[in-house]
Amino acid sequence: MHYTKQDIDQMDKTTKIITMNSASGIKPGNLIGSISKSGITNLAIFSSVVHLGSDPALFGFILRPTGEVPRHTYENILETGYYTINHIHSSFVKNAHYTSAKLDKTDSEFNNCGLTEAYVTDYPAPFVAESNFKLGMKHKETIEIPLNGTKLVIGEVEHLIVPDDMDPSVNLDAMDSIGISGLNNYYKLHKIAEFPYVRTKDIPDFSKIKSL
Ligand SMILES: Cc1cc2nc3c(=O)[nH]c(=O)nc-3n(C[C@H](O)[C@H](O)[C@H](O)COP(=O)(O)O)c2cc1C
Repeated sequence: MHYTKQDIDQMDKTTKIITMNSASGIKPGNLIGSISKSGITNLAIFSSVVHLGSDPALFGFILRPTGEVPRHTYENILETGYYTINHIHSSFVKNAHYTSAKLDKTDSEFNNCGLTEAYVTDYPAPFVAESNFKLGMKHKETIEIPLNGTKLVIGEVEHLIVPDDMDPSVNLDAMDSIGISGLNNYYKLHKIAEFPYVRTKDIPDFSKIKSL
């Protein structure tokens, strides 16, 4: 089957959302924790977290268009300047999914979705206690994307919290972090290979190799 731009334009809204949301392949599953100036916590699932660089350590996420729909995570980030990114594990994937509900700003998804707030020292944003891989983020910049009204929200890592016996260079398989496709499909991740840094001279002769 070959879909042209015209075919894609003519898809009904739901089919287009599901198809295009799945088209990039597996996305990371994270919960973003934040708190309002008045002290009400917020938690929401995001699949668009992306690594932007390691020095400084920057991550971005795509925020859907603001407007009629309030975006509590972003409002809190603007109010306090801080937020957390927490990996989702299969043990609480259902709780994580339900944080996408549009709750009133006075209601915290931590309470409503059965997840626990955790704090480190005087860091001003809530982490998810159930998560084994947590980042404390300071908001640095937001880039507007006028093409569709979304925003790229960029932050710098100020805390990296993993269990004492865990290597933070991360084996997602061992950590049981999940992957997301579309807006409601969740996957377990299974590591299948590890290769060295590639130099041109090291490329195997694939014409002689059927499969590695
Ligand atoms: C699997 C999944 C992934 C999502 N990823 C994003 C995302 O990357 N960006 C976004 O703006 N909303 C995303 N959402 C929607 C938010 O979770 C939802 O709008 C939520 O209500 C935002 O909460 P807030 O208003 O408290 O910030 C996603 C929802 C689901 C179910």
